[in-house]
Amino acid sequence: MLSSFLHLALAASAVQAYTVIVVDHFMYKNIDPIVMPGKYKSHLHEFFGSDAVNVSTTTSAELQQGCSTAQNPNDFSVYWTPALLADVGGKTVPVKPMRFSAYYIGIEAAEVPIPQNYKTIAGNASATAQAQLNKLAGVQWFCEGDSAPASKETAAFPTSTCSTHLQNLLLFHDCVNVDTLESAYSGTQNWVNGYKAANRCPPNMKRMPQLRFSIRYDLRKVLATGWSGTAPLKLASGNSFSMHGDFINGWVPEAAQNMLKANSKRDFAGVDGPLGKYNAGSICKDKAEDADPNHGTADYATSVQMMRAA
Ligand SMILES: *[C@@H]1O[C@H](CO)[C@@H](O)[C@H](O)[C@H]1NC(C)=O
Ligand SMILES: *[C@@H]1O[C@H](CO)[C@@H](O)[C@H](O)[C@H]1NC(C)=O
Repeated sequence: MLSSFLHLALAASAVQAYTVIVVDHFMYKNIDPIVMPGKYKSHLHEFFGSDAVNVSTTTSAELQQGCSTAQNPNDFSVYWTPALLADVGGKTVPVKPMRFSAYYIGIEAAEVPIPQNYKTIAGNASATAQAQLNKLAGVQWFCEGDSAPASKETAAFPTSTCSTHLQNLLLFHDCVNVDTLESAYSGTQNWVNGYKAANRCPPNMKRMPQLRFSIRYDLRKVLATGWSGTAPLKLASGNSFSMHGDFINGWVPEAAQNMLKANSKRDFAGVDGPLGKYNAGSICKDKAEDADPNHGTADYATSVQMMRAA
């Protein structure tokens, strides 16, 4: 029993059925419809996906009314993270993400599609140190393709200039209760009958595809002289450890269901749907815009003032 379980676990880690959607950045805004609905007092976020999102969005149907920057025309999800800020000679400058990729991994283990109206957060916006992070959130900052000193904490910024891109990874929950929309990491249910049972969902939850953010930033222009030691970087939410991501599902239901078919291959599979092939592209490139331009702000300094205001 134990050995066959281990064998399965090893096989599962070697095989990863996944899909990936590149989603363009379209907005900076000091809102967070999950954490602070109705309030223009959030730290500054960068948004990707459906431009229908506003300060009080709660449903997939609302997002599906928008124009989405996702290259898969069936994905009206909205994805957001705190703004990355560089210290350029004492001035705080937002660094526009170069590429945002929404990976959906572990599809071979998924039992249910990501439910409509499902929303969640990964990471911990108030964390200031590695020890405060849930390992299962897999928060990582690194220079793409470069090696890092062994002493570097995985969620710390790199200690020297990146030869190409600064990259961040973040893992979301992979278990969901389809009735209540509560969710969890499968890896939290670790001990069953006295042995380690990885990849088990809590009772009443089922496995769904696991969302993973992969974000790349190009710092070569904004920080032209690079750095050595403490990176001249922070997030609108705090230091590197405060990295977090938010997600409201906007996949049209048929495509969310089709995503489970990515199971048949042992690698990448595109997810087609009623609105087109997986690689049809976004029809709203450069057209996505803030749905609520007269409230809140896209400016970092103004967002800080609005957070302080009573
Ligand atoms: C947010 O969007 C919903 C519809 O999607 C709309 O009913 C609501 O008025 C909008 N709120 C704001 C503040 O724009
Ligand atoms: C997030 O980090 C804070 C420390 O800043 C800690 O008190 C809190 O327990 C953490 N939250 C979770 C869910 O781990």
